Amino acid sequence: MRHLLEIDDLTPNELGAVLGLAERTDPPAVLDGKGMALLFEKPSARTRHSMERAVAQLGGQPVTVRGDEVGLDGRETVEDVTRTLACYHAAIGARVFDHAVLERMAATGSVPIVNMLSDQAHPLQGLADVLTIGRHFGRIQGVQVAYVGDANNVARSLALSVGMLGGKVRIASPLGYGMRPEDLDRLARAGVRPQLTHRPEEAVEGVDVVYTDVWTSMGQEDEAAARRKAFAGFEVTEDLMALAAEQAIFLHCLPAHRGEEVSAEVLESPRSLIWKQAENRMHAARGLLAWLLEQ
Ligand code: CP
Ligand code: NVA
Repeated sequence: MRHLLEIDDLTPNELGAVLGLAERTDPPAVLDGKGMALLFEKPSARTRHSMERAVAQLGGQPVTVRGDEVGLDGRETVEDVTRTLACYHAAIGARVFDHAVLERMAATGSVPIVNMLSDQAHPLQGLADVLTIGRHFGRIQGVQVAYVGDANNVARSLALSVGMLGGKVRIASPLGYGMRPEDLDRLARAGVRPQLTHRPEEAVEGVDVVYTDVWTSMGQEDEAAARRKAFAGFEVTEDLMALAAEQAIFLHCLPAHRGEEVSAEVLESPRSLIWKQAENRMHAARGLLAWLLEQ
């Protein structure tokens, strides 16, 4: 049984197979007559809707629940919730505060577990990001991607997905908000060696893709003021975009905060592919599930 807790749960070949399935408009109905539980400890717009639609497109029935409805480790243990949901569902997707909860779910060995975002990783986003880059440039090999901002869950999954498919990754973060040594070790094990800097201008110089995400992720709200201070100068503006390649595109996983990590002008500019990227969440999710449920 396979799970998707982070992009490197897939080999580069498997990643390619998932992207191939994402392009198919007639995917195998791997969830025909089956359910998939989608459990959310945090809010969501894109992930909930893209996953519900993907499950339906594969012939299945999505059942969305809030974490507090099942009471993870409160009403009953994570393991008991997982084994209970597995009585009715062929797979479980979960958005959790603590990545270890996903590992405990997977360790029950009951059904495939899909990470719908944790504090550590956002692999469904990473899949949609490489789908978007691949569709736009016709390849990922050799494409230069600069991530400007917090080296967070989204940045880790992006670096893995781009790097494992032969793209080049640069990351610009303020001191104290960059990739941790253990993140870099994990990336290196997947063959990914990002170029690191504390200067956004250096990261975006000549790149094909400029990517950013919020400075304060869900669960870090009490750090928001300190983070706004630390990330001053890291806003992706038209001036910063002007340093990238002439045909460079802008990506953001969303939700976005205009005037913080990105200006309204960049978000709304023709270079911004954020709505294609959001749509691709559904195609990527469908491809992933079509692959995962055939293992
Ligand atoms: N990008 C993303 O995961 O969006 P949601 O938090 O709205 O699901
Ligand atoms: N890094 C953000 C991504 C939201 C989709 C968070 O974890 O809140």
